[in-house]
Amino acid sequence: MSPRLLPLVNVTGPHGSRSRATCHYRCGNACDKPMPNSSGNTPMHEIIAQVLSRRAVLGGAAVASGAMVLNPLLGVSPAQAATGERRRGVQNLTFTPVPPNNRDVVSVPPGYESDVVIRWGDRVLPGAPPFNVYQQTAAAQAQQFGYNCDYVGVLPIDGNPDHATLTVNHEYTNESIMFPPGPYKPIQVKRIAMMAHGMSVVEIKRGRKKGSWRRVLVDNAPRNRRITIDTTLRLTGPAAGHPRLRTSADPTGRRVLGTLNNCAGGITPWGTILSGEENFNQYFDASGELDPRYTESYERYGITGEDTRGWSQVDDRFDLTTEPHEPFRFGWIVELDPSNPRSIIRKRTMLGRFKHEGANVRLADNGRAVAYMGDDERGDYIYKFVSRLRHRPGTGDAAKRHNLKLLDDGTLYVARFDGDGTEDGVYDGTGVWIPLCSATKSFVEGMSVAEVLIDTRLAADTVSPTAMDRPEDIEPNLVTGKVYAALTNNSERGTTYPPDEANPITSSMVRSELGAPLTPASGNRNGYVLEWQENGNDAAARRFEWNLFLVCGDPDAPETYFGGYPKDRVSPISCPDNVAFDSAGHLWVSTDGNALGSNDGLFAVPTQGTNRGQVLQFLTVPLEAETCGPLISKDGHSVWVAVQHPGESDDATFNNQVSTWPHTNRFPRPSVVVTYRVDNQRIGV
Ligand code: FEO
Ligand code: CA
Ligand code: CA
Ligand code: CA
Repeated sequence: MSPRLLPLVNVTGPHGSRSRATCHYRCGNACDKPMPNSSGNTPMHEIIAQVLSRRAVLGGAAVASGAMVLNPLLGVSPAQAATGERRRGVQNLTFTPVPPNNRDVVSVPPGYESDVVIRWGDRVLPGAPPFNVYQQTAAAQAQQFGYNCDYVGVLPIDGNPDHATLTVNHEYTNESIMFPPGPYKPIQVKRIAMMAHGMSVVEIKRGRKKGSWRRVLVDNAPRNRRITIDTTLRLTGPAAGHPRLRTSADPTGRRVLGTLNNCAGGITPWGTILSGEENFNQYFDASGELDPRYTESYERYGITGEDTRGWSQVDDRFDLTTEPHEPFRFGWIVELDPSNPRSIIRKRTMLGRFKHEGANVRLADNGRAVAYMGDDERGDYIYKFVSRLRHRPGTGDAAKRHNLKLLDDGTLYVARFDGDGTEDGVYDGTGVWIPLCSATKSFVEGMSVAEVLIDTRLAADTVSPTAMDRPEDIEPNLVTGKVYAALTNNSERGTTYPPDEANPITSSMVRSELGAPLTPASGNRNGYVLEWQENGNDAAARRFEWNLFLVCGDPDAPETYFGGYPKDRVSPISCPDNVAFDSAGHLWVSTDGNALGSNDGLFAVPTQGTNRGQVLQFLTVPLEAETCGPLISKDGHSVWVAVQHPGESDDATFNNQVSTWPHTNRFPRPSVVVTYRVDNQRIGV
């Protein structure tokens, strides 16, 4: 009998270990709904029918032969290898890994310390009152740090390494643990929650310890900024101004109020921040019928009108019946220049519209800007954008003006991953970037450029890309040129979607709680980290070679694989979400929804050398929290994370909290944390 048909004990539901509350508030219970992608991709010729039955064998085989295939140093003695690696600048990780745990703290290795830099409610603008959860107002929240911090981007101010802007996304709110039940009317709570979404820019200065940082007093921080649902953003690129982007409040189709569900992001080579609008679909309700012209589009994006946030009671643009175009103005990549608090914030339509996790940009050999992007939904796709114009080096105004045009003109591609068969003992193959449109030409029959960009999912469905297991953060390793994508999980892989070599796991081992036995569950519960190299190591290439670098889970589970590294010497890792790199080229992975009973965490893993695949846990976050926004400073002294939704369990209420982290109040406060070494040395190495 196939393992996925076994009677299961303690099996987690489609939500994995993530609380129902998180699913409800963050993504509108996406996992309870049919996968929006019913196009039938992946192509049948890629489907490997034997993957399931071979899985256990492959898991073991991959450890041996994966090392053979993937480790260029095989056949060299460890001493020779280590000497060779030192010569080539390969560094090993040196910290003592943090064990899985259920503590209500940020746990870091011995010799490390972490500080909370900013919490929900802390003042951002000079007019902000001090935070008081019993007397909160929308006006106060609009000037204070928002809720559920996610992406974290740090950029030096005027080249000064000791003074920087910290840019943070505020993905969503959970009103049931944010507010006491007594003092507020429901409409007030909605208004405050709306202002707790968006982004913050906060000036920071180095602290006394090397690697530590603190906030600059708001009165001395002219670059501080709050972006809320009332902030005007500009739509740019080929779809801007299209009739489907026009509303009664904005007949130009170019001016949008606000940005929603901002998840991950990236720093561009020209010093701006990119931010992904993710589960934007869940903010719209309907007082009557939905516009039948948009049925297919709404369905593909999960826009049902069955929203429970009720924002249309505050602002009727969130009512689909009266403003059917408003949701087309969300789901974009946002570009923000934090160095200028008056700069225009742009939604870049050229990068397509989907549930953007984030975007990370690198420069191709020819100077074109290349952005990698994931569409975070079960069974959705990985995208790449290549600019038409070339990047202009330099930090002057002319260079910046030029580089701010890069993301408005180029070509948008979607990825197909072709497996080469599992007989080689490795999940790997070749891939192709399939063009969808340029700024002036559509490559999708029957769709204009603007239609491809507004209905990017529908456009991609027609060209046979590979349906992935929730593609999240994607980032290039600038040391090796390889690219890494976090694929969080997919409880329906093997049922709604057949396996393929890039998404092979259809049954995985989970734990109901820490210390409980591993039990099988259907689908891919623990996720992957996917690695690829563009042909010729050129970011603008149209083809690439890929392999699964990590098949996450408990090392005792047969399906897991850690880049060929011995499985008895790695930390268990589950549900990778965001990725980052340090300057030594180590991959850092944060997790969301650990299916092994532990709190979520941040892990470091070498990507080359004899320790390739040695996954070590660097920190864990408090109870029920997710680890977001990892960022390793260029100087190697600071590790940044955002602690998102601490205490968000199903039974938690304001008066019955599960977490009180960071323990400054009797309720949890999502916060940004920086970790550094007590001895002032570099992190990890
Ligand atoms: Fe907001 Fe895909 O995580
Ligand atoms: Ca293979
Ligand atoms: Ca996530
Ligand atoms: Ca995320």
